[in-house]
Amino acid sequence: MKRIGILTSGGDSPGMNAALRAATRYAIYYDMEIYGIHRGFEGLIDGEFEKLDRRSVADIMQRGGTTLRTARSDRFMTPEGLERAARNLETFKINDLIIIGGNGSLTGGLMLSQKYDINVIGIPGTIDNDLGYTDSTIGFDTALNTVLDAITRVRDTSSAHERTTVIEVMGRHCGDIALYAGITGGAEYSLVPEFETDINDICQKILEGVQVGKLHSIIITAEGYPVSSSDLVKQIADKTGREVKLVVLSYVQRGGSPTYRDRMLATECGVKAVELIRDGERNKAIGEKNGEIMAFDLEEALTERREFRYDIYKAVDILSK
Ligand code: F6P
Repeated sequence: MKRIGILTSGGDSPGMNAALRAATRYAIYYDMEIYGIHRGFEGLIDGEFEKLDRRSVADIMQRGGTTLRTARSDRFMTPEGLERAARNLETFKINDLIIIGGNGSLTGGLMLSQKYDINVIGIPGTIDNDLGYTDSTIGFDTALNTVLDAITRVRDTSSAHERTTVIEVMGRHCGDIALYAGITGGAEYSLVPEFETDINDICQKILEGVQVGKLHSIIITAEGYPVSSSDLVKQIADKTGREVKLVVLSYVQRGGSPTYRDRMLATECGVKAVELIRDGERNKAIGEKNGEIMAFDLEEALTERREFRYDIYKAVDILSK
């Protein structure tokens, strides 16, 4: 009987539980055994394995976070840590490992597959949407909706006080949350790690907005934008002479019940992961291309760079003039 391991790793994202539920129940449906590994690669190294049954994943689809819990693991990046992880999989007779996580987690999985001949199937779980091979990652849609809700609230109070508000969102290397929340939230600008926007352009737009009767302005900035959010607030306030406030959304963006879109994507990815293992497919990254759930070679998928949507960046500016 085939035995699968499954873990969640790196920053949690809403929908990870839905992927875990789908993979667990499909594995059992196909007469495989499945072990949940706690705390990501940390639990893999420490041997924290738990056999799952259908009831282990009951009532979790609608919950954010991850019931397997998660961690960032420096130990896994060392030869000793990697070897301990491989030994534990050998002890439990697990040859197939499903990893739900972002870029760093899937890269860790690739290392394991290359050095120890373990079959790794990656499921993209991160709010950042920073994996180039897939159109979207599990949790991105929920995080965006959380940010949009925050923008709507901030807009009310900003108008009442005629303020400019800088809203900082997550994204250390990828500006997708800032970009897509900016265009759908009607922000003046979305500032992204991919490149720097001229501070004079931002201030000119704020002042022109005041001239045409705008009561507020909203600037969305990603945490990885080259200028820190507090400096940004100071620079805008100094240059425009207006009151500027900072709202840092931080971990609020990572929690909450997953949206329909994230539950569906997660469920389809979980099913696909188990079916790939059943069919003897090796070392794949699952992703979504033009609405279709597909499997890509793990190594090649991780080398694909995410294309920056400059057209959307421009549209944020044009639409909010
Ligand atoms: O990787 C997802 C992410 O949410 C990033 O956007 C953020 O920078 C990071 O995780 C923060 O993670 P933590 O503080 O939990 O390690």
